[in-house]
Amino acid sequence: MGIIKASRLVFDYITRDDDEKVQEVNRALDHVDLEITPGSFVAILGHNGSGKSTFAKTLNGILLPTEGTVLISGMNTADDARLLDVRRTIGMVFQNPDNQIIANVVEEDVGFGPENLGIPTRQIWKRVDEALQAVGMSAYRLKSPNRLSGGQKQRIAIAGVMAMRPKCIVLDEPTAMLDPNGRKDVIRTVLELNRREHITVVLITHYMEEVVDADRLVVMDEGSIVMDGAPREVFSRVEELKRLRLDVPQVTELAWELKQGGVPLPDGILTMDELMTYLVPVLKGA
Ligand SMILES: Nc1ncnc2c1ncn2[C@@H]1O[C@H](COP(=O)(O)OP(=O)(O)OP(=O)(O)O)[C@@H](O)[C@H]1O
Ligand SMILES: [Mg+2]
Repeated sequence: MGIIKASRLVFDYITRDDDEKVQEVNRALDHVDLEITPGSFVAILGHNGSGKSTFAKTLNGILLPTEGTVLISGMNTADDARLLDVRRTIGMVFQNPDNQIIANVVEEDVGFGPENLGIPTRQIWKRVDEALQAVGMSAYRLKSPNRLSGGQKQRIAIAGVMAMRPKCIVLDEPTAMLDPNGRKDVIRTVLELNRREHITVVLITHYMEEVVDADRLVVMDEGSIVMDGAPREVFSRVEELKRLRLDVPQVTELAWELKQGGVPLPDGILTMDELMTYLVPVLKGA
């Protein structure tokens, strides 16, 4: 069973005037079918306004489907009685770390979530320890979050979510406000949580370099899924991605351009190492 299963999912943003009369209906999700396997790392890509954030918000019941269903470990997000369990299963991390930090000391911030869940104090400290360790921030336990860099703050926000022991974390552009180093740290942290702790990861991002290690890429456009496959497979379709106003990783682009210029290379090269493996024999032969 998928940990996430969206079936024929529609979401309409409805604007009403002062008399409650419908003025505008904006269909943000248009019959989305998507099933995500437990333990997988899935990245969601798409141009601005394609429906990524709306989709993320349907996963923990912040938004409820206009039509169709979202099941989280088999629980329907529209079922009031299961909403708390849905929110325990899916942890959310958003773009702006400053909006997600609540306490003045890192350990209190990380412990806030489990405390709210009514977890006994002794267990909370154990969870805080583990969560800080998981994101590589144990040394900052007694520091003030305000003094940390953007990347460190975001890792604290991720630790706060981890301390609630979700099965899945959904991150909506968690690196958008970070510098390149902060971005790398956050992505490395997320990848480790996935690989080591088997947390299911759904990562929404505009940075193509961040998704080459994902198990699966899902590309959205105008509220629908238009591509779905392994990174190598999706990034082989450079022209199609360009038409969707999306980039590919820089190395993939470079390889693609070389190939257009007549250099014999396979499609969907994802790393510099890979490119060199193919390029060196070509250059030696030249
Ligand atoms: N609160 C809202 N009210 C009305 N329409 C909205 C609202 N939020 C989003 N939309 C519309 O829904 C569609 C999908 O938006 P969404 O924010 O899910 O896209 P996105 O893929 O996350 O975009 P971005 O890459 O810019 O974050 C867009 O047409 C957007 O204008
Ligand atoms: Mg968005």
